[in-house]
Amino acid sequence: MAILLTGGAGYIGSHTAVAFLDAGVDVVLADNFDNASPKVLDRIEAITGKKPKCVRADMCDKQAVEKIFAENEITGVVHFAGYKAVGESCRKPLKYYRNNLDSALTVLEVMKKHGCTRFVFSSSATVYGDQPAPLTESTHTGDCSNPYGWTKYMIEQILKTACDADPDLSVVLLRYFNPIGAHPSGMIGDNPNGIPNNLMPYVTQVAVGKLPRLNIFGDDYDTPDGTGVRDYIHVCDLADGHLAAIRYAENHVGCEVFNLGTGVGYSVLDIVKTFSRVNNLDLPYAIAPRRPGDLATVYADPKKAETVLGWTAKRTLDDMCRDSWNWPKQNPNGYEE
Ligand code: UD1
Repeated sequence: MAILLTGGAGYIGSHTAVAFLDAGVDVVLADNFDNASPKVLDRIEAITGKKPKCVRADMCDKQAVEKIFAENEITGVVHFAGYKAVGESCRKPLKYYRNNLDSALTVLEVMKKHGCTRFVFSSSATVYGDQPAPLTESTHTGDCSNPYGWTKYMIEQILKTACDADPDLSVVLLRYFNPIGAHPSGMIGDNPNGIPNNLMPYVTQVAVGKLPRLNIFGDDYDTPDGTGVRDYIHVCDLADGHLAAIRYAENHVGCEVFNLGTGVGYSVLDIVKTFSRVNNLDLPYAIAPRRPGDLATVYADPKKAETVLGWTAKRTLDDMCRDSWNWPKQNPNGYEE
């Protein structure tokens, strides 16, 4: 019996694989390696002492997904597979709608055929759009500002209606806030292609010396220091949230949604100062114009996950900044030697 982690070789998938294996839960990873390295598998084995089963497969390929379910006893799915670059989604919306919707639908159809009824979905706080923080699970959703966000919103709607129609189905929607950090071993971590868009991978590339300075996108927001405020969450806490979610899905039917955040907002300058302090290095930065589409303040109300799942984020911002740096410090070229 195993849990299928689609996109299991990616940033959040690989950390979740470690959390599941450490907890004694068997996993099968499936990944097309479009945006992940097969080398992550050896690293997962080195950390956990267990070699995860992994299948190279695209989740839009129904035959390939069928084969995974035919050859393994899959008792639940955590669906990470999907494109995730906001900017690219604006340039290539059809690519995002085709891939992200198709892969979710394909996995759901094959699950149904094989009598698998537990599904945990990687959603995002981006579904809330521009709503006042703290965001609760009942805050209005659906004013997304880019096609990537719309795919998350649309898949949430698909899953809700699939649950309405199938009394056996159990779905957990996890709305992630801003995952950063890496496994404390420094052996796995976020490994974006090209110049990063998100804050922490950009910060670490500046720290490594690959980029000259961090551009802080705006210092005139209505926030304590004028820079954008987000709810950063350690990726290992996020991974533990998936374990709590798949266990919850074992004993419940229907569709439930949970925020996975800390409930605390930190500014871009908080990140810069904390990163510099805990890692004892200077991080050059400059104030740049606002990035279109950015919001001033986004943070979660994480109480529902605490009450219902018994899960809370435990790692501090110091932990997040130290572990974020540990990974590129040891692996300046990511998974490439
Ligand atoms: C972005 C996406 C969101 C996605 C999330 C994780 C947008 C509008 N939102 O969230 O949909 O789920 O990434 O992939 O793109 N910043 C800088 N300089 C940089 C990079 C970022 O100052 O070089 C600032 C941003 O203005 C923001 C904060 O850092 O205030 C966090 O940015 P980022 O890591 O890109 O995450 P979000 O924009 O919150």
